[in-house]
Amino acid sequence: MTKIAVVEGDGIGREVVPIARAVIEAVRPDLEFFEVEAGYGLWKRTGNACGEETMADLRSADAVLFGAVTTPPDPGYRSVLLQIRRELDLYANVRPIRGEGVDIVIVRENTEGLYSGIEWMESDRACTVRVVSRRGSERIARYACALAKSRRHLTVGNKANVLKSDCLFVEVCTAEAARAGVPCRTCYIDALALDLLMHPDRYDVVVTTNIFGDILSDAAAYLVGGLGMLPSANIGERHALFEPVHGSAPDIAGRNIANPVAAIRSGAMLLSHLGDAAAAAAVEEAVRRVLGAGIQTRDLGGVAGTREFGAAVLREVGRG
Ligand code: NAI
Ligand code: MG
Repeated sequence: MTKIAVVEGDGIGREVVPIARAVIEAVRPDLEFFEVEAGYGLWKRTGNACGEETMADLRSADAVLFGAVTTPPDPGYRSVLLQIRRELDLYANVRPIRGEGVDIVIVRENTEGLYSGIEWMESDRACTVRVVSRRGSERIARYACALAKSRRHLTVGNKANVLKSDCLFVEVCTAEAARAGVPCRTCYIDALALDLLMHPDRYDVVVTTNIFGDILSDAAAYLVGGLGMLPSANIGERHALFEPVHGSAPDIAGRNIANPVAAIRSGAMLLSHLGDAAAAAAVEEAVRRVLGAGIQTRDLGGVAGTREFGAAVLREVGRG
């Protein structure tokens, strides 16, 4: 039996994940789901946001469906998602940006870079170390090149003009692209951020380091209707976690107005990871039809609530 761990987390994660789960269940009633608690809410209740038990549960799953967690800007609080990505070694964060005239996949290195977790506070300064390793760069480069090989080409987003760590990253990525026979160019991340928004057709697969990929993908959401639309996959050798790109959105949480598309599409990526391309396509198609029928949440200019949108997608998948 294939087991799916479901982490709703905090804020709108608790609203959009149940919908994504219901949609996955509708197309794959044979999957077994189990709930796992993690996040700020759990921390407030128990003093632990993501303990050993949670990690063991996540490790035991064939795939994880994840909502979002709140991370308070408190130097003493450890980011749950960063912990999970590191402990499950989910090194590739894959963020497709698809919409009218846009078909880009951002592949973000997910375990090191500026989020390596090597940092400390002193009395008058705080330091965060940006680690880029050859092994870390090689595996993300291989992942991105394999993907680009089945698509068109690769762009390596970097700041090698300033950062030594990115000189290594670019060297490894361009070498891997040459080996794989993938057309490849490099682009400084600041110029890339603007050009991607102005000329999305120039981009196909974009590989970059951790924080650049984080920022670039939120910005790229502009091309397809905002953060409520973007799904993502976090892939490792042994584990995989699927989550919307957005966070817990405390400003709109609990009001039935969050857009569940990102979460539902993350569910489609999960199905595709399990090898069920047909179910994934059915979910994507259902979302497209509902949006096309003008049923949209407030962020897209519509009036549908989170649950009403979810019900419409469920009707569409039911229809096949
Ligand atoms: P956010 O992504 O939660 O929200 C940014 C803006 O986009 C907000 O105005 C929000 O209302 C809107 N938005 C996001 N998702 C939406 C949706 N599905 N439908 C409609 N509108 C949507 O980022 P923010 O505000 O910077 O962070 C809020 C909390 O989430 C923080 O505690 C942060 O640490 C956490 N966070 C968690 C992430 C995760 O669990 N993967 C990722 C990013 C942030
Ligand atoms: Mg982000």
